[in-house]
Amino acid sequence: MPNTLVIVAHPALQQSRANRTLMQAARGAGSHVEVVDLYALYPDYLIDVAAEQARLAAAQLVVWQHPIQWYATPALMKLWIDEVLAFGWAYGPGGTALRGKDLWLAASTGGPQESYRPDSYNRYFFDAFLPPYEQTATLCGMRFLPPLMLHGAQRASAAEIDAHAAVYAQRLASYPAWPELADLPECVECVVPASARPAPQSEAA
Ligand SMILES: Cc1cc2nc3c(=O)[nH]c(=O)nc-3n(C[C@H](O)[C@H](O)[C@H](O)COP(=O)(O)O)c2cc1C
Repeated sequence: MPNTLVIVAHPALQQSRANRTLMQAARGAGSHVEVVDLYALYPDYLIDVAAEQARLAAAQLVVWQHPIQWYATPALMKLWIDEVLAFGWAYGPGGTALRGKDLWLAASTGGPQESYRPDSYNRYFFDAFLPPYEQTATLCGMRFLPPLMLHGAQRASAAEIDAHAAVYAQRLASYPAWPELADLPECVECVVPASARPAPQSEAA
């Protein structure tokens, strides 16, 4: 079984219905699945970058599981991306640590699916909010797998959340034997030249 790393980012997990259930499902999905509760681990926002990079290096499938907040990741997840996916490690010259891995987004929204339409209050189909995730993966040489979304999570019944969590656990247990992976294109190569960053101080002087 390929190692799977599930990073859960929910700023108030004790009040969560969807993500708490999903996290429990992930924990039961197999011994190859490591689940990290980011807000519990780093309540002070002081991320151990080396430890996070070691976890990532050991995984073939990386899962970002979180509620959508302001059309994006919760704040600590964003900080984790800023700090852990470092230039020269995750992308740029020598930045090949994540190449060939898969990234899967498992997220929930408060807005129901029908609110993510041009004629409703979220104005855009939800796919319009995915390019920052997809390009983050691609820049790091990772395939961005089709996301698993739970829309309308606040009003979903317990039975609907349980059914969604069962699909999630089944997916985590069966990766990489997912039928849709055969049709996914290879990751596009994004070469960031060394000149894209300022020279170190000693060279610049
Ligand atoms: C600060 C904040 C921002 C939010 N932004 C969005 C949003 O942009 N779009 C949306 O559909 N729901 C938004 N929500 C609702 C959450 O996505 C929703 O409560 C969550 O997915 C429910 O999952 P849970 O039961 O695990 O908490 C937001 C919630 C909070 C607290």
